Amino acid sequence: MARDVLECSLDFAKLADPMKDVLTCEHGRMRFGGIDVAGMADTTPTPFFLFSATQIDRNIATLRDTFRAHHPKTRVFYASKACSNLWFLDRVRRSGIDIEVNSGGELWKARKAGFQPHQIGFNGNAKTRAEILVALQPPIEAIIVDSVFELRRVADVAADLGVQARVALRVDLNVASETHPGLRTSKGAKAGIDVGEALAAFGLAAQLPNIELVGMHYHIGSQITRVEPYLEALDLALSLLDRIETAHGVRLEHLNIGGGFAIPYYDRTADEPDTYFEAPHTLDGYAAGIGSRLQKARPDLQLYLEPGRAIAGNTAVLVSRVEAEKTKLVGAADGRVTREDWIMVDAGFNTVLEHSSYHWYYRAVVANHCGKPPVRPFRIGGPLCDGGDVYAGDPGSEYRYLPTCTKVGDVVAFFDVGAYSLECMSAYNGRDQAAAYMVTESGLRKIAARRSVEDFVANERFAADAAAE
Ligand SMILES: Cc1ncc(COP(=O)(O)O)c(C=O)c1O
Repeated sequence: MARDVLECSLDFAKLADPMKDVLTCEHGRMRFGGIDVAGMADTTPTPFFLFSATQIDRNIATLRDTFRAHHPKTRVFYASKACSNLWFLDRVRRSGIDIEVNSGGELWKARKAGFQPHQIGFNGNAKTRAEILVALQPPIEAIIVDSVFELRRVADVAADLGVQARVALRVDLNVASETHPGLRTSKGAKAGIDVGEALAAFGLAAQLPNIELVGMHYHIGSQITRVEPYLEALDLALSLLDRIETAHGVRLEHLNIGGGFAIPYYDRTADEPDTYFEAPHTLDGYAAGIGSRLQKARPDLQLYLEPGRAIAGNTAVLVSRVEAEKTKLVGAADGRVTREDWIMVDAGFNTVLEHSSYHWYYRAVVANHCGKPPVRPFRIGGPLCDGGDVYAGDPGSEYRYLPTCTKVGDVVAFFDVGAYSLECMSAYNGRDQAAAYMVTESGLRKIAARRSVEDFVANERFAADAAAE
């Protein structure tokens, strides 16, 4: 089962360009932001997340500058659902971009991190009156309205407060995208106003008192590896916009095309991706296609973007320890028996939910042996009781190829876990939730403490408590 060393060796120099100096292998030890990851694991309970502030700044600057080079009137609203840790948000704000939130809780966090109302866009398909009330005191940059029902609700709350609500309507343009079904948000998905109803909905928004119609929004999904669906959506949106403006005598300020830009979870990129783990387009690929088309059609229109994964994804690694090992014999249909080597790490889908919910592939490296060739096939399990708590294999395989000597006590680092991991951690199986650290210019900072079973039950009650109360 051994593979060609050259083919499978995780070549650090081959990792995505922007990661080069953050992620290094020195004398057989993996460093992230200069930190010896396995060394840190010797003094810090595993699993834990390690973020790089440099990488956050870099991703934001690259994204903003790349899009602005093609369409100068571009504003980037970081999709905070990807990682809404307060330290992370503060870093995003300092880098000079704006923020997208998806609930009253995220809105609260955005404000706590210092974002001003004019920097905030608010999505969501079931906003409560209470959430809308908060978003209008004072009014944020845009409430992104998901239905005609919600439009009336926003108008109602704004009237009660005596304010004008700045509103963009989210439209489902019915554009298909090749990504995991759970990440599709257009064509048959629940989000947005149906494109067939959109003209009338914009007409209503233009007339309702206390509503200031400022934009159109759509978001076709997450981890979209090709530019074509964006171009298809943009053409549809521009033509709809034209009809809306002509029919209702309005002029919209902005077009919000959502987020979804893919990151390469596999080392390789491809012209024609086989899976949504390969990202064939550099950001320039997306920006050139979208920006140039918009420049031609509507240079006056502000382009709003809501990237989450493309900003947060590669900013963190998950550091776990191999806690157990075993060999299992697997019988094949032809009667042959194969030996499978398993290692069990101390992070499961309670720590990185998407490894199980979307069968996401996170590259992994044995941090204390990063110089050794990854030639021995292993299956990597997490510690949870579920059969599904098993990490996806390397491309085209059930197995992860790791150095031959990999054993209990080694430190396994999973890459690209910065997006949608801290957000989705759970207390499942009574396991601690991982702490998070960030490498900053002023040193290593703890940005989220580990949470233990005592923390989780702090608000629970049982009979003995009730008797004592
Ligand atoms: C409305 C909206 N905007 C932006 C995003 C961010 O997507 P991504 O993290 O793929 O960029 C999402 C996530 O699905 C979303 O629902």
